[in-house]
Amino acid sequence: MRDQGISEEEVMEGLQRMRERDLSYHRIFSSMCTPPHPIALLAHEKFQETNLGDPGLFPGSAELELQAVGMMAELLGYPDACGYLSTGGTESNIQAIRAARNGYSFRDGNIVVPKSAHFSFDKIGDLLSLDIRKADLDDDLKVDLSSAESLIDDKTVSLVGIAGTTEFGQIDPIDEMGEIAADYGVHLHVDAAFGGFVIPFLEGDWRWDFRVEAVTSITIDPHKMGMATIPGGGLLFRRPEDLERLAAYAPYLTLARPKALTGTRSGAAAAAIWAVMNHLGKAGFKEVVGRCMDLSRRMVDGARKVGIEPVIEPVTNVVTLRMDDPEGVRADLLERRWRVSTTRSPKALRLILMPHSTAESVDLFLEDLGDVVKRRG
Ligand SMILES: Cc1ncc(COP(=O)(O)O)c(C=O)c1O
Repeated sequence: MRDQGISEEEVMEGLQRMRERDLSYHRIFSSMCTPPHPIALLAHEKFQETNLGDPGLFPGSAELELQAVGMMAELLGYPDACGYLSTGGTESNIQAIRAARNGYSFRDGNIVVPKSAHFSFDKIGDLLSLDIRKADLDDDLKVDLSSAESLIDDKTVSLVGIAGTTEFGQIDPIDEMGEIAADYGVHLHVDAAFGGFVIPFLEGDWRWDFRVEAVTSITIDPHKMGMATIPGGGLLFRRPEDLERLAAYAPYLTLARPKALTGTRSGAAAAAIWAVMNHLGKAGFKEVVGRCMDLSRRMVDGARKVGIEPVIEPVTNVVTLRMDDPEGVRADLLERRWRVSTTRSPKALRLILMPHSTAESVDLFLEDLGDVVKRRG
């Protein structure tokens, strides 16, 4: 740190130089984040100094959190669900599993997740000393139910299903997982960090949320397809007693029994989430998701024209293109300033068609993809 501070102008110049090094989203197909909706930015700015960790000082912000959780609860099929706004999918997954584990007296338990689960579950194993058992996937890259069932034993504290997998955007058969969870009397946590703001707005009725009786908790991330500001996550529980198992005692705060993992929490995030959900409403989100799905199909159709097949037809707005050397193709595309990612198994190029994606960017990308593939023979 400097001995003497520098002027505001110099600070802003320094910041601007760094900001220019950041990429702009328009050539990014690798991210599950997107620029926040303009109303989220306005809301965020207004509430920047507020702290949800001490809600008695900021009752307005606390009410925004309550209402945002209520809107998500309704969206997820159970208006009475309770929960809180977290920093994102990782925290929500940690806390959901911690709540499940805290319901048991033993500490050497396990959880059963699909092999497609986000890497946050590996962190959970480490943090909570749980054995993370990974169930096989079927040909559609959904969890194989018999594999999942075979991994459950009397030390299993939760079964986990993914609604919108990180790599392939696939949705696990939550309904059938619910039957297994009910049979064995274990929690069923649904990680819908990505799918939470997508699946409710897709055509067709997916039974994947609290409408499935056995679902005990859901992770949903407003800072992904919810177009809120970062960090904006959500964690919802069906039963208040599960949320209560996360409580700590903090006598010096205005809330004596906080449930969140972090102490100080941004009221700005709550304001941003509240603002986008109220501003767009279901109709607005349906339009956004519809556009992302149209672009996903456009990407698949265009890829097929250059002889590349998708691994699965897009279920959500994640497109995966089957190829022998996706890493090589990714490197070639990087030289053309496209940011894409790859999957592990099966090997594929992975593209996420987010609210910032456009028909123009998809078409430009497809031109480059065709060229790269042709040159590589
Ligand atoms: C399915 C799923 N769960 C959890 C996460 C973790 O979310 P975050 O990066 O907000 O912690 C992600 C991130 O992409 C995800 O795709």
